[in-house]
Amino acid sequence: MGEKNKVIFVSILLLLVMLWVLPTSMKSSSPLKLGVGREETEKKLHVEGKLPDWLTGVLVRNSSIPVFQDGKQISHKFDGLAMLHGFAFDKGNVFYTNRFLKSQQHDAVFYKGMAQYKGFASEPSLWQKAQDFFSYSDHFVNNASVNVFKYGNQYVALTEVPLPACFDLKTLNTLGSFSYLDSLPKSKCWESAHPHFDASSNEIVNFLIEFGRQSYYVFYRMEEGSSSRKVIAKVPVDMPSYMHSFAMTENYLILTEFPFIVSPLDLLIKNKPFIHNFTWQPERGTRFIVLERSSGKIVSKMIADAFFSFHHANAYEIKNRKGIVLDLVASPDISQMPSLFPQATSILTKKSKWKRRLMRYHLSLDKNEILPEVMLERDVEFPRFDDKLDGKSYRYLYMTIADDTSTEFLKEKTTGLVKFDMLTKQIKIWSRMGCSAVEPIFIASPDAKNEDEGVVLSVVYDEEKNSSFLLVLDGQSFDEIAQAELPGHIPGSFHGQYFSESVFVPQK
Ligand SMILES: [Fe+2]
Repeated sequence: MGEKNKVIFVSILLLLVMLWVLPTSMKSSSPLKLGVGREETEKKLHVEGKLPDWLTGVLVRNSSIPVFQDGKQISHKFDGLAMLHGFAFDKGNVFYTNRFLKSQQHDAVFYKGMAQYKGFASEPSLWQKAQDFFSYSDHFVNNASVNVFKYGNQYVALTEVPLPACFDLKTLNTLGSFSYLDSLPKSKCWESAHPHFDASSNEIVNFLIEFGRQSYYVFYRMEEGSSSRKVIAKVPVDMPSYMHSFAMTENYLILTEFPFIVSPLDLLIKNKPFIHNFTWQPERGTRFIVLERSSGKIVSKMIADAFFSFHHANAYEIKNRKGIVLDLVASPDISQMPSLFPQATSILTKKSKWKRRLMRYHLSLDKNEILPEVMLERDVEFPRFDDKLDGKSYRYLYMTIADDTSTEFLKEKTTGLVKFDMLTKQIKIWSRMGCSAVEPIFIASPDAKNEDEGVVLSVVYDEEKNSSFLLVLDGQSFDEIAQAELPGHIPGSFHGQYFSESVFVPQK
């Protein structure tokens, strides 16, 4: 090709690229709006009832604040802006603080008026990618809107990619990214937002998915106070599965591998949002992969009929390590969640009678057999129990329970709370007309003699008042102890944790 032809060729190429890029860069002039009111600082809430004197820590809830344009929500449920909500308890009082996480995505919305950032189901335009490339900052903070945790003495917000985002427990101000000091991937990988903490070994255990020509499920441990992730196991996988959480016992790690899988090459070459690349392939079944924690070796692989789940409840060993009891909230497939997964509408399934239910899987390691057991045939989600029993035998589970007529996951109409006795299968329910409760968090009282002695904390949206309130239930009777009105509504809140550390609370 001659020089002249080369110039013409490059000019045409540039023109084509501009024609492709420019339309996507022409954003509407309509301003973005966020589904939440202003930020508050240690606002004393009016309490009806009586908070226990021993409740002196901080409940921190994360939330995915929806972004609106022209009156329409333009952010996916999982891709709203991360906002932290802190409830600091002190001498029967509670003080509320809320802060946006100061992430790169936060800055895009607040300072550039752009909400098409990279996320679970969002992909930026080429124009935005080019802008991000040139304005890349070393102080990148993720829009970590899923969960919160404590890593050593640092409080972190988590999403499904590293790095965790550090925040101050008292002010909820963003402090920057958590620095992993190791050679494991720190970007361009997937990492669970549901780590486990093993109090007996004083370590955090989690897993990530390393995508590549050869992909791996990588389990790691991180000793308390350390920033170094140490590999427990690297399991090669050709088509990685979307697994939101996993189970851990004293001696085992259990991956529940759903047939919702992706070709790593598609993630690389297709310019599609992350979750849009996955396909539902029920003929593969759902596989339980059991690994030994001490050696990282796979000790068993078992295949059950296909199902999907976001959240494991708990798991523990029986029969001298020869058996595992594993509890989770199951859905027959992903067709139940069209607002979360775009593939849901194209899945051809037999109309299932159930949408979600609490399942127990009895895994026999010596016989390699699975015995499924329906524990509760109700539309439940967000299972929580006493955290110190993680991986150990337990009896009580607390969950949200949706109205039977609701048709969509997390529908904000009437979602109550349920306490479930795994031994007797009896339930206790809290619900109020027009109210929608989020994940109930159990906190054991300091001198508890029984597993359910303590309180259950949740945040409830009252549709009629268009505002939320903190709800405090008795862990045993499941009766209301107290509630505290919030100045507004907290939308899109998935997970939270109670940190027992007390923070300074001004006397008002
Ligand atoms: Fe979750």
